[in-house]
Amino acid sequence: MTKTISLLGLQWGDEGKGKVVDHLAKDLDAAIRYQGGHNAGHTLIVDGKKIVFHLLPSAICHDDIHCYIGRGVVVSLDALFEEIEEAQEVIGNIEDRLTISSACSLIQPYHVKLDQLREGSKKLTKIGTTGRGIGTAYEDRVGRRSIRVADLYNENKLKGRLEEALDFYNSIFIHSFNSEEIDLNELFEKNLKQAEKLKPYVGNVIQEVRDLKEADKKILFEGAQGALLDVSLGTYPYVTSSNSSVGGIASGIGISPTNIDFSLGIAKAYTTRVGEGPFPTELFDDMGTYLAEKGGEVGATTGRPRRCGWLDAFLLSHTVQLNGIDGLCITKIDVLDGLETIKICTDYSSDLSKAEILETLTLEGIEPIYTEFKGWEEPTAGKQSFEELNDMAKEFILNIEDLCKVPVIMISTGPKREDTIIREYPL
Ligand code: IMP
Repeated sequence: MTKTISLLGLQWGDEGKGKVVDHLAKDLDAAIRYQGGHNAGHTLIVDGKKIVFHLLPSAICHDDIHCYIGRGVVVSLDALFEEIEEAQEVIGNIEDRLTISSACSLIQPYHVKLDQLREGSKKLTKIGTTGRGIGTAYEDRVGRRSIRVADLYNENKLKGRLEEALDFYNSIFIHSFNSEEIDLNELFEKNLKQAEKLKPYVGNVIQEVRDLKEADKKILFEGAQGALLDVSLGTYPYVTSSNSSVGGIASGIGISPTNIDFSLGIAKAYTTRVGEGPFPTELFDDMGTYLAEKGGEVGATTGRPRRCGWLDAFLLSHTVQLNGIDGLCITKIDVLDGLETIKICTDYSSDLSKAEILETLTLEGIEPIYTEFKGWEEPTAGKQSFEELNDMAKEFILNIEDLCKVPVIMISTGPKREDTIIREYPL
């Protein structure tokens, strides 16, 4: 029986994970974020009000779910407190239901500043980051310069770590960017104030998750971004700086990789991407604009328009395998309603072998090869059972199963909770 379930985006993020979490919520006891930071954006409608979660697990809007932020997440305390305040206006007090690992690395103002200066520089490769200091905070983590949550409660250590960090960063601000330095004392005082406010939320996630497992509770590992943005396995260097694939769960929480009972992968019926980087099936014509408009493809965190293109099953079948996906959820199929022809990329034409393409995912010098499907007039929008779908839409889904060699167990047919087809419930 499934006790732990991982939920992962299999494209470049924004696959519609928030809605799927909402579906599983009634059967969950706990939800854990394990990577990324407030670069994520999960939009939910609660009692008719829109809330966008960036750092908190989106399961937080369900009263009986305890939420955790694991050590793999980089935490901006400014963003955290702002989000808690906003969430509490809609869902009430969450203090008893949120635990943040004392081992999380903090995003400090110098991380945000450097991220934005670099992105603004004409000399450096533009990644199109969210400008939230995510990558720079992860650089400190592997560079062993991070200030972790626990350090906030040891004043001497905190001051020493901040001093060390500012020595490093201020020199970069002044000499490389001709920009102003950050004041140590101001930053130290700010950290101390935030430490007090954070105290009720700080906890020992490893032990708490062990206790939950012991008590046979149902746990969701809530992924952010998507597998193609994974720093190790994605379209490097156009990636985020965390392990957004299944591999991030074990180290980002502190559990064994064998502790995942079911891996649920989420993919849109087409593809989108925000920021720079290769995107073989991107559409630059009216069809791209049509998908963007009909699909409401605007970034939930930055408000940037998302680039749109056809479903890339060459890449999707790869991320399905990489993440040991047991079942797929295909979202936004209704966006394809009314199209005369629908395409799926099933292969690439390239001088490189498939193995070479997948090893680096630079995706240079390749051309997508498409299989064309007849579109459908009868809408899929709002349908709640597979049998109700028109034959073409069924064929589209069955082809995805064939190409990716995994069952499509859920299909989202619209933004409302009930606009969902469940062929096999994973919990
Ligand atoms: P960063 O995570 O802010 O460093 O941005 C690195 C890349 O990841 C950029 O292309 C961002 O647009 C992308 N990215 C980060 N978070 C998300 C997300 O939640 N959805 C989609 N793209 C994201």
